[in-house]
Amino acid sequence: MKIAIICAMEEELNAIIQGLHLETITKEYSRLTVVYATYNGHELYLVLCGIGKVNAAIHTQKLINGVALDYVINVGVAGNLAQDLDFGDVVIAIDLVHHDMDVTGFGIPLGQVPRMDVFAFPCAKDLLALTDNIRSADCKIQQGRIASGDQFIDNRAKAQFIHREFNALACEMEGAAIAHTCYLNQIPFLVIRSLSDKAGNEEGQAIHSYEELKDMAAMRASFVVKELLVRM
Ligand code: ADE
Repeated sequence: MKIAIICAMEEELNAIIQGLHLETITKEYSRLTVVYATYNGHELYLVLCGIGKVNAAIHTQKLINGVALDYVINVGVAGNLAQDLDFGDVVIAIDLVHHDMDVTGFGIPLGQVPRMDVFAFPCAKDLLALTDNIRSADCKIQQGRIASGDQFIDNRAKAQFIHREFNALACEMEGAAIAHTCYLNQIPFLVIRSLSDKAGNEEGQAIHSYEELKDMAAMRASFVVKELLVRM
């Protein structure tokens, strides 16, 4: 199968290359640089999309235009919004919302993209089922909602608000945009994120924790990707 693995940052992409011991070659598709490798009989198209939702959507669309993909997987780190999860635990998205989409003035629920037929973009059920029995001695692996926005969340009130409002386990800055792009292109997708910080639930610690733990968290997410690819 042709599988895209999209990461926002080099640290996240390198964790995939190292964790899966990939031998890579660089290719160009619709003027997009792609790191190509094979793994377990699959063709992997690794893309560094940059930070934020616009970067994520544009890179995803460019890759979709250039390659007939079977699946898109977004992998990386996220802020923890859940009480019962810890640094390095992995959240596999059931679905994703844009937490910063706000057209509430028109009576539209926060997060809803106006005139779209879904509130949250649903991840591929077959891939979710394959992740059901992935276990790690090092971390919890939990399915749930992920909320994305063009904001690094380092504020307890904001983190608690996103958790309560959307029932989201984690927050990050690309997943919903990649999900949204795949949804419109009818390409099944999954988002796998490991928790690098508490998104401000412990005052002022998110940036520090993120800097310190993002490489460890990226490796945990990469482990789950590896286990998934073995099962596909
Ligand atoms: N990615 C990792 N931690 C994050 C946070 N606290 N907010 C947004 N994106 C993140």
